[in-house]
Amino acid sequence: MARILTGIQSTGIPHLGNLLGAIIPAIKMSKDPKNDSLFFIADLHSFTTIRDKDILKQNTYATAAAWLAFGFDTKNNLFYRQSDVTQVCELAWYLNCFTPFPMLANAHSFKDKSDRLSDVNSGLFTYPVLMAADILLYKATSVPVGHDQLQHLELTNDIVSSFNSKYKVDHFNKITPILSEKTQRVMSLRNAANKMSKSDLSDMTRINLSDSDDLIAQKIKKAKTDAYSEISENLEDRAEVKNLLSIYAGCLDISFEQSLNDNIGKSSAEFKASLTDALINSIGPIRDKINSLLNDESYIIDCLKKGRDRAIDLSQQNMNDIKKIIGLRK
Ligand code: TRP
Repeated sequence: MARILTGIQSTGIPHLGNLLGAIIPAIKMSKDPKNDSLFFIADLHSFTTIRDKDILKQNTYATAAAWLAFGFDTKNNLFYRQSDVTQVCELAWYLNCFTPFPMLANAHSFKDKSDRLSDVNSGLFTYPVLMAADILLYKATSVPVGHDQLQHLELTNDIVSSFNSKYKVDHFNKITPILSEKTQRVMSLRNAANKMSKSDLSDMTRINLSDSDDLIAQKIKKAKTDAYSEISENLEDRAEVKNLLSIYAGCLDISFEQSLNDNIGKSSAEFKASLTDALINSIGPIRDKINSLLNDESYIIDCLKKGRDRAIDLSQQNMNDIKKIIGLRK
């Protein structure tokens, strides 16, 4: 039995890249009866950069609404808000005392953020330790993440080794990262060299799950293609077309080869029309569901509350054991 755990950054309504690269693969994984899945909204991690209380709250609900709208089964899996289980902060403190300062100072993501941001708080610095606490609190075995988070998981495994060896126990297990981007990497609609991203200044580079049908059509119409007259088998040097074909495959849940087969011989405009239909058919109903969940937040609140109670139950024993191991309890 694998225990899958992942934190979802609460950055608001997701875009197509989040959807095809992370949400859909994670939901598929959670449907496998051999797995036990814990997914949480990482609002404490968002708090390292988001200071606006309304945005922090809206982002949490928008993210939860998207996962629920996509059919994440909250009965058989755990779905909760990170900040609802305060034990994670307690564990993060213990693990902080196990983490060598230089290991955090050399983490890529900290270097990137401290170069970019004017407000470099200590939360950004210990961010990976809070991730380790997220994972180790529930003794997860497999952790799906994007490529940028891999180094943080290595750090978790380093903490596991030093904790176990210091106390001569076998308490924490090493974790296995699962690279979610292997599934599908969705690129910008304007430049296939870049990932589709919320931080891109132009909204035309991405499809958001909140976009209207008209806006989707407009974005696809303006998406970059190339000078070739039709979709053909030879896709060398055609990164933009490849990206669109792979988006088409993702929307219809078919293979890339099947997507190419469906569209071969079409002109760019014909293909874009088919892609627009596929996007509207797959995203449209979900967008409407997200909106209705956000109009009445009681369902979201109820789901998160149930998740919180179960997560607290699940972490309690481990927390007691850890305190005994380190000598804070008899
Ligand atoms: N930091 C992760 C991200 O940006 C989200 C996250 C928080 C996470 N805690 C985690 C992922 C624990 C995996 C395990 O994507």
